[in-house]
Amino acid sequence: MNLRLARTIAEARAEVAAARTRGLSIAVVPTMGALHTGHAALIERACAESGFVVVTLFVNPLQFNDAGDYSNYPHNLQADLDLCEERGVDVVFAPSVDEMYPRATRTHVDVDTVTEPMEGRFRPGHFRGVATVVAKLFHIVQPDRAYFGEKDAQQLAVIRRMVDDLNFSIKLVEVPTVRETSGLAMSSRNQRLSEAERQWAVALYKALEEARRVIESGEASAAVVKARAAEVLAEYPQVSAEYLEIVDPDDMHPIETITGPVRIACAILVGKTRLIDNVRATPHPG
Ligand code: PAF
Repeated sequence: MNLRLARTIAEARAEVAAARTRGLSIAVVPTMGALHTGHAALIERACAESGFVVVTLFVNPLQFNDAGDYSNYPHNLQADLDLCEERGVDVVFAPSVDEMYPRATRTHVDVDTVTEPMEGRFRPGHFRGVATVVAKLFHIVQPDRAYFGEKDAQQLAVIRRMVDDLNFSIKLVEVPTVRETSGLAMSSRNQRLSEAERQWAVALYKALEEARRVIESGEASAAVVKARAAEVLAEYPQVSAEYLEIVDPDDMHPIETITGPVRIACAILVGKTRLIDNVRATPHPG
């Protein structure tokens, strides 16, 4: 069957109910649109693993702490629909803000601790908005599986915790980050970079890779690793770092001594564009 576009919660629910009566397993890929090859990887995985795939396209005002960032967020519904249709998606759920929030919402999902460092510090309220909208999307679609990218590692940790704490019966599938050949992680925000900014933005991945190399060659002090990564970032004076942290992969809190697998996460500003990325690192045994 061809791709269908659901604009209302009732339409999305009716589509999912019909798929359930056909005995199909349901997957959801929550997105804010402006789909790129990173999203395509999530969608392809969902289509390979589930009988019925819903992609949600909704730029969620609740998770933007900066009104300019929200109003400048890229939109391209037709290109998004084409990408979904080519990949074999069953339904795109693209509600309006009024459909999702017909009145001021008085109920929010607050996940504590995991949300405090990094993005939580620089984007107050962001994860409250993410957790709230993802909980709503999960209730609307009631999927068996939900697909998220590893690029937003802290978001994934927040959603994992919410699913666990609130007993959502949903399997979360974590999909590896897709990168350009330069190492730059795919992101809808890359569309805002000029040609020059795109060259400078590789500083982010280079710093993360250097931190990973230092950890994997036996350095256990997070301070030493961070100092080395900061030297790499300093080679790109056009870029400013908001944070570079070495964190516990589950609770996302910064650690001082590296004794097991970690995530190295960084946020930079390139011109007016804010980019985030992360990599895993595992210290060499012994
Ligand atoms: O990662 C995103 O695109 C958004 O944060 C999400 C998960 C779709 C919630 O709005």
